[in-house]
Amino acid sequence: MRVLVRPGHTVSGRSSVPGDKSIAHRWLLLAATAPGSSELAGLPPSLDVRSTANAVCALSPESQLELQSWIHMKHLPSSGEVEGSLDWTVGPALAIPGTGRTTLRQPEGEIDCGNSGTSMRLLAGLVAPCSFRTVLTGDESLRARPMERVAIPLRTMGARVATASGRPPLTVRGGRLTGIRYAMTVPSAQVKGAILLAAMAAEGETTVLEPAPTRDHTERALEFLGGSITGDGGSVTIRPFQHDAFRGAVPGDPSSAAFLCAAAALTGGRLIVDSVGLNPSRTGFLRMLRRMGASVEERPTGAEVGEPVGELEVADSGALRGVVVEPAELPEIIDEVPALALVAAHADGESRFEGAAELRVKESDRLLGLARGIRELGGEAEVQGDALVVAGGGLAGGTTDARADHRLAMAFSVGSLAARGPCTVTDMEWAEVSFPGFVQTLRRLGADVEMKGGR
Ligand code: S3P
Repeated sequence: MRVLVRPGHTVSGRSSVPGDKSIAHRWLLLAATAPGSSELAGLPPSLDVRSTANAVCALSPESQLELQSWIHMKHLPSSGEVEGSLDWTVGPALAIPGTGRTTLRQPEGEIDCGNSGTSMRLLAGLVAPCSFRTVLTGDESLRARPMERVAIPLRTMGARVATASGRPPLTVRGGRLTGIRYAMTVPSAQVKGAILLAAMAAEGETTVLEPAPTRDHTERALEFLGGSITGDGGSVTIRPFQHDAFRGAVPGDPSSAAFLCAAAALTGGRLIVDSVGLNPSRTGFLRMLRRMGASVEERPTGAEVGEPVGELEVADSGALRGVVVEPAELPEIIDEVPALALVAAHADGESRFEGAAELRVKESDRLLGLARGIRELGGEAEVQGDALVVAGGGLAGGTTDARADHRLAMAFSVGSLAARGPCTVTDMEWAEVSFPGFVQTLRRLGADVEMKGGR
């Protein structure tokens, strides 16, 4: 699907966003391995989360009935109470009948993780203690992504893990695991999460050392569920335990909210995003937006399964200035660089995203994709070593392609809202990977985004 964006409209109003997919993957896996029925509300119907739900069906046939009907349900947000708003927070909770970790079964055939690296890496950790064979594969993009980063620590714990020259399919023959002390070479919450899930069923204690702090959703969930888990920002230590069933409502995804905040900041709109996750390991983009001169406020309202929740408000942002992101700050905004880069394209002065090599191995090579896309939309950007350098000064308009990457699709369309001329973004349907209804949401908030057929 193509979209034609006609700039000159303000993105304003009130909206929620689909549930956080990072949290949803983890809670789904934990619900399926709890001894009893868990209830999860607000699970996002994004394609990535459906991939994890499908995998759970293959490993835990008891949960098939409930999960399959959720997977195939048509999920649509309802109209919010405020004119122009959309509400993702309603909908019945999904009951997941877990039967405990030891009852997982060898899946028939391969598990297809689709486009979702988080599904694949977390699942590898989940099945590492299981004495059967699991083969994890995915779409063309996922089959090109590095998997030794998760295979190495799981092998060290005692699982047999094979990759195809470092890439999927990932074949895990699980078994008895022993706790390890492991220093990760790349900062990755997916790898940390996989090790922690495996460590829950290992013998003895496991410690993971992080080169830089990454999102801590696994730690928060395990602590909430009564696990013995300690950490100091640079390391996490966990002792084995079996958790109980639980209930929770998945908070809105701050990474999805980032695109709406960027849209409001770029068009001078006033926007409130409610029921969104405010975990500080995910809100680095707000700090960057503020550094660029945007006015953004966080208002905490409560917590769900150890995760802070609240609302975000972007208001009256004036002229924005370029930003320098240091390598140590990059993991805090790993998924928001696309949105921030398109804001940077409209800022006064140059922006630099330093130490961004990990962006090369996301759903696409985002360093290259962002630089090319910004140029195709009539701006200036280039890759210098591991840095993305964006010149600022605005976009003239043009046509670019999302390169089968959900975050590039959303970033390019948001950047287009403030261009000097109309813009076309192709491959827009990829937004469904993390933000179903993204284009409709932008339109409801005032943007002029026309959906066209074809690519
Ligand atoms: C994720 C972690 C990040 C992020 C991804 C989701 C997670 O990847 O890019 O979208 O849920 O753990 P890495 O931490 O592996 O870079």
